[in-house]
Amino acid sequence: EQIEKGGYEHFMLKEIHEQPTAIKDTYRGRMLPDEGIIRMAGVDDNLERIANAKRILIVACGTSWHAGLVAEYIFEELARIPVEVEYASEFRYRNPIISEKDVIIAISQSGETADTMAAIKLAKEKGAFAFGVCNVVGSSISRETHAGAYTHAGPEIGVASTKAFTTQITVLTLIALKLAKQNGTISHTEFMTYLQEMERIPSKIEKALEGDEHIKMIADIYKDARNCLYLGRGFNFPVALEGALKLKEISYIHAEGYPAAEMKHGPIALIDEEMPVVVIATKKGHYEKVVSNIQEIKSRKGKIIAIVTEGDTEVRELADHVIEVPETLEPLTPLVTTIPLQLLSYHIAVMLGKNVDQPRNLAKSVTVE
Ligand code: G6P
Repeated sequence: EQIEKGGYEHFMLKEIHEQPTAIKDTYRGRMLPDEGIIRMAGVDDNLERIANAKRILIVACGTSWHAGLVAEYIFEELARIPVEVEYASEFRYRNPIISEKDVIIAISQSGETADTMAAIKLAKEKGAFAFGVCNVVGSSISRETHAGAYTHAGPEIGVASTKAFTTQITVLTLIALKLAKQNGTISHTEFMTYLQEMERIPSKIEKALEGDEHIKMIADIYKDARNCLYLGRGFNFPVALEGALKLKEISYIHAEGYPAAEMKHGPIALIDEEMPVVVIATKKGHYEKVVSNIQEIKSRKGKIIAIVTEGDTEVRELADHVIEVPETLEPLTPLVTTIPLQLLSYHIAVMLGKNVDQPRNLAKSVTVE
């Protein structure tokens, strides 16, 4: 097992560090910036059907559901196709309205999650076109769907999902870009800009990983917190949810992810000097709005840990701690902002002496209801 961990103390840490390579493996051979194309057999063979979808339904569970939420923002922004994201377990039992014009995308690392599998079967029965985004080759969901695209992240052993999440987002971004190109919802120049920037993501993640020692120091300060709030907006709202889930899963600290602006409708009541609040406050998008959310937290004496764009000065003045990540195109920011949140949870769990790779009560793959 020590050999399998490749010199890392835990599989989770190894898998966090594998993300630059995993993402390259995901887009290798698919993204061809020199030729200005994205090639994905599962999409190419069914391009008309997928690009003409009236609606894309995404079904998933856990971390994969968070990747689905990120994809919703990306698909709608780039390809302008309406997207709905559902927990597979809710979808399958609520007599959902599905038509033959719908495309359903199942996202699943293992490809074995029982609820996701049932959701796909139901949508197929009603005539929808089913597409799988799985990591495990030959898994049940990959066989049950009409077509699909593997994430090629390599085996993920840690129960808390890390590289599966970022590679799912990578595949879904490639699909969104293909559909955007097909439907003419982005220009060729924009398409090329995305391709070139996607190629820079692995090195930007490497850069984000260099913050590890600093993040460890922050983890040491907050490891005894009873609760923690994660806030983000836009493309980074689902990242806040995923950050909170990671902390819950492996450290057993209660954490909640929230869209930053919704804070005033509830969670703000929880904020006092005991409450660490992790805020994703990268440049662009809703930056100024997030800054004012940070001011609201500060005036209630909450402790602020902010994920910011390299060189940021405005948030630095307000926050107790800042963690810098490299700048990228806004729809691609989740790929970099996720990294420090994974490391923060990891270090807190290790400091608390928890079983990081096999947290209590959780299973890597949930094959029963
Ligand atoms: C379990 C795992 C999670 C995972 C979820 C969905 O709860 O512990 O890490 O996100 O199942 O799994 P899937 O294999 O369908 O992505």
